Amino acid sequence: MILTSLVVWLTCLFAATFAQQPTTCIKPQPTSQAFFVMGCGKPITVDRLDPIVSPGRPSQHLHTVMGGSAFDFDLDYNKTQTSNRTTCAVSKDLSNYWVPIVYFHHANGSFEAVEQVGGINVYYQERMDWTDYCAGRELLAFPPGFRMMAGDTTRRDFNSSKVEDRAIEFICLLTDGQEGLPPFHDFPNRTCDGGLQIRIRFPSCWDGVGLGTFSSSSNSSVPGYNSTASAYNSSHVTYPSRLDTGVCPPTHSHRIPALLYEMTWNVAAFNSFRSMGENQQPFVFSNGDKTGYGYHADFFNGWDVNLLQRALRDPSCGNATGGRIEQCGTFKEYLQSNEVQNEIVGLEQKVKGEWRGVLEGGELPGGVRVE
Ligand SMILES: *[C@@H]1O[C@H](CO)[C@@H](O)[C@H](O)[C@H]1NC(C)=O
Ligand SMILES: *[C@@H]1O[C@H](CO)[C@@H](O)[C@H](O)[C@H]1NC(C)=O
Ligand SMILES: *[C@@H]1O[C@H](CO)[C@@H](O)[C@H](O)[C@H]1NC(C)=O
Ligand SMILES: *[C@@H]1O[C@H](CO)[C@@H](O)[C@H](O)[C@H]1NC(C)=O
Ligand SMILES: *[C@@H]1O[C@H](CO)[C@@H](O)[C@H](O)[C@H]1NC(C)=O
Ligand SMILES: *[C@@H]1O[C@H](CO)[C@@H](O)[C@H](O)[C@H]1NC(C)=O
Ligand SMILES: *[C@@H]1O[C@H](CO)[C@@H](O)[C@H](O)[C@H]1NC(C)=O
Ligand SMILES: *[C@@H]1O[C@H](CO)[C@@H](O)[C@H](O)[C@H]1NC(C)=O
Ligand SMILES: *[C@@H]1O[C@H](CO)[C@@H](O)[C@H](O)[C@H]1NC(C)=O
Repeated sequence: MILTSLVVWLTCLFAATFAQQPTTCIKPQPTSQAFFVMGCGKPITVDRLDPIVSPGRPSQHLHTVMGGSAFDFDLDYNKTQTSNRTTCAVSKDLSNYWVPIVYFHHANGSFEAVEQVGGINVYYQERMDWTDYCAGRELLAFPPGFRMMAGDTTRRDFNSSKVEDRAIEFICLLTDGQEGLPPFHDFPNRTCDGGLQIRIRFPSCWDGVGLGTFSSSSNSSVPGYNSTASAYNSSHVTYPSRLDTGVCPPTHSHRIPALLYEMTWNVAAFNSFRSMGENQQPFVFSNGDKTGYGYHADFFNGWDVNLLQRALRDPSCGNATGGRIEQCGTFKEYLQSNEVQNEIVGLEQKVKGEWRGVLEGGELPGGVRVE
C-alpha cells in the first residue's frame, strides 16, 4: 500500500511537473484522519418501523431511532425536512439513525430490554486516499433522498475475509470505562461491567447515481415494493478495500463520509441474573439474533445538504483533533446542547405492543423468536 501510494504520488508529481498545471495531487492529505462526531441524545422513538427495508408497514423487529421527528412508516427527503426537532447535536441534521435493540434472555425464557446508555455517537470519518486526490475528487455530502444500510439481519456466522462482517465490533467496557479487551465480532461470553459498546461501519464508496431505492418502473415481485413505497436497493454503495480506508472500486468511485455508529448498552445491570442461565451468553438483539453477527444499522439522509458539504470542506470540522463537533465553525450557529438533545419528548409509538419490562411467552416484540 505504501509502495502503491508512492508510485501514485510520484506519477502525479511527474504529471504535475511536466504538464505545468496546478493539481490537487501534490497536496498533502489534510483530512486523511479527520472526523467529527455527531452525538444524538435520547432516542426519538423505539418502534417496529423501518422506512428503508419495510416502507409502509411494520418492520419485522424493533428499532431504536435517533434524529429527526418526521420518522415514520414511510420517509422521503422532503418528509425528513418537515421534522420540527432532532435529538442530534446539529439542528440542521434531520437525518434518522437506527439499529435493533438489545434484550436479556432470562433463564425462565422471558426477555427484558437492556437500557441504552445515552443515544448514539455517529462518527463522520472524512476518508480520502491518493487516488481520490489525483482524480481531483472531493468528499461528497449525502444527496437528498440518499439512504443506506450496514450489516445483514440474516447473518449468523462470521467470515473474516468479508469487510461487511468485519464492520461490526463489540467492545466490552470495564468499570473504568476503558476498552481493556480487544474487540469481539459477536456478543462476548463474559460480563462487561462498564457496559457493552457496539460499533458498526457503513460503506463509503458511492456510485454517484443511486439513492438506495428501486426505480419506480421496477418490479412488484420485490418484497416490500408497492406503488407508493419503494424497496431498498443496496447496489449504490460499497466498502473501500480496507473497510473504512483504502481505495474505492471504479464502479463506486465517489467518496461519501464513512459513518460509524457507536452505542452502549447497560449489560452489567443483568450480572446477577447470568449465573442462573445456561452456559451461554444471554443477550439477543430484537431481531432474534443471539450471535451478534446479525447486527445492522440504517441511515436516512435528512441533512441540509449544502451545510454538510460546507462542513466537509471546512478544516475546523474534522482535522483529527478528537472529532469535537464544537470546534466546527460551519456548525456553530446550529449546535444544540446535550440538555436539548435529551429533553426532547419522543414520538408516540406507532406499532402498538409492549417492549419494555419483562416480556413473557418466549417471544420478542413482533412475535420474533430466538433462532
Ligand atoms: C403500500 O404502501 C402503503 C403506503 O405506504 C401502505 O399503506 C400499504 O399497506 C402498502 N401495501 C402493501 C401491500 O404493502
Ligand atoms: C420535494 O420538494 C421540492 C421542493 O418543495 C419539490 O420540488 C419536489 O417535487 C418534492 N419531491 C417530492 C418527491 O415530493
Ligand atoms: C412538532 O410537530 C408535531 C407534529 O409533527 C407537533 O405535534 C408538535 O406540536 C410540533 N412541535 C413544535 C414545537 O412545533
Ligand atoms: C422470569 O424471570 C424474571 C427475572 O427473574 C422474572 O421477572 C419473571 O417474573 C419470571 N417469569 C416467570 C413466568 O416466572
Ligand atoms: C468467506 O468470504 C470469502 C470472500 O467473500 C469467500 O471467498 C469464502 O468462500 C468465504 N468463506 C466461507 C467459509 O464462507
Ligand atoms: C439499483 O440502483 C442502481 C444504481 O445504484 C441502478 O442502476 C439499478 O437500476 C437499481 N435497480 C433497480 C431495480 O431499480
Ligand atoms: C424482479 O426482481 C427480482 C428480484 O430481484 C428479479 O429476480 C427479477 O428478475 C426481476 N424482474 C424483472 C422483470 O426485472
Ligand atoms: C460461556 O462462559 C461460561 C462461563 O465461563 C462457560 O461455562 C460456557 O461454556 C461459555 N459458553 C460458550 C458458548 O463459550
Ligand atoms: C485543527 O482545528 C483546530 C481547532 O479548530 C485549529 O486551530 C487548527 O488550525 C486546525 N488545523 C488544521 C491543520 O486545519
